[in-house]
Amino acid sequence: MKYTSSTTEVPDAPAVPRHVAIIMDGNGRWATKRFLPRVAGHVKGVEAVRTVVEACARRGVEYLTLFAFSSENWRRPEEEVSLLMRLFVTALDREVSKLHANNIRLKVVGDLSRFDDKLQSMIASAERKTANNTRMTVTVCANYGGRWDIMQAVGKMVAAHPGAGDFTEEQLAPHLAMAYAPEPDLFIRTGGEQRISNFLLWQLAYTELFFTDTYWPDFSIESLDEAIASYQHRERRFGRTGAQLAEKTS
Ligand code: IPE
Ligand code: IPE
Ligand code: MG
Repeated sequence: MKYTSSTTEVPDAPAVPRHVAIIMDGNGRWATKRFLPRVAGHVKGVEAVRTVVEACARRGVEYLTLFAFSSENWRRPEEEVSLLMRLFVTALDREVSKLHANNIRLKVVGDLSRFDDKLQSMIASAERKTANNTRMTVTVCANYGGRWDIMQAVGKMVAAHPGAGDFTEEQLAPHLAMAYAPEPDLFIRTGGEQRISNFLLWQLAYTELFFTDTYWPDFSIESLDEAIASYQHRERRFGRTGAQLAEKTS
C-alpha cells in the first residue's frame, strides 16, 4: 500500500471528505441538563451514532472514525465505565448485521487487551463478518489514545528494522493502528470543548478542524451537513501558498 502523507503530498480535495473523524463529546452534560443520569446521555448517544453512520454512507464518505472510549476514560467512576462497556456490547450485538447488510466494514482500534474476553471476541467476530464490505469503513476507537498508537507503532517499526538507527515517517506510518485509512480530512468535536484529548495525534496533522457546542446526542444530519459545508469552504494549503494551489488547479 502506498503511503500518502499530508506533509508530503497535496491530495485533491474532494467535495465530500473521504475521511471524517469525530470526538463524540457531551453525552453526560446532555443528560445532566435534563436531570437524567449520565447513562441516559450515552444511550441517546448511540442513536446519534446510527444517524451519522447512515448519513455519512449516503453522502459518500469512505471512512468514518468515532472516538468511543479513550485510554483516559478508565479514570471515570467504575459504574460509568462498566455501563459504557455494556452499551458497547449491546450496540455491537444489535448493529453489526445492519452494518453488514449495508455493505459497511467495521473496525475497532485501540488497546483491546484491556477489554473482557466476551467483548474481545464479539469485536473480532464483527470485524471478520464485515471485513470484505466496501461501501464505507466505520472505525470505533476504543481504549484508544494517540500516544498509545504512536508508541505501539514505534515498537513495531523498530522490530521490523533491526539494527536501524534512523527512521522515516514512511517507515512508521504502516504500523499505526489505522494504517488502512487515509488521514482524516475533517475532524468534528461536539460538546463545546476545543481540544484533541489524545485522539489521532499523528493523523490529524493537516486535518480541517470543526468544533460545535452541540452535545453529541443532539448531533443530527443537519449538524453533519453544517460541518461538511464548513469543510468545503476551507482552502487546504499543506504549507504551500494560496497562489501555488490556484496554479495547480488552473
Ligand atoms: C462522551 O461524552 C462519551 C465518552 C467520553 C464515553 P461524555 O461522557 O464525555 O460527556 P460530557 O463531556 O461529560 O458531557
Ligand atoms: C474524549 O472525551 C473521548 C471520547 C469522546 C471518547 P472526554 O470527555 O473524555 O474528553 P475530556 O476529558 O473532556 O478532554
Ligand atoms: Mg466529555
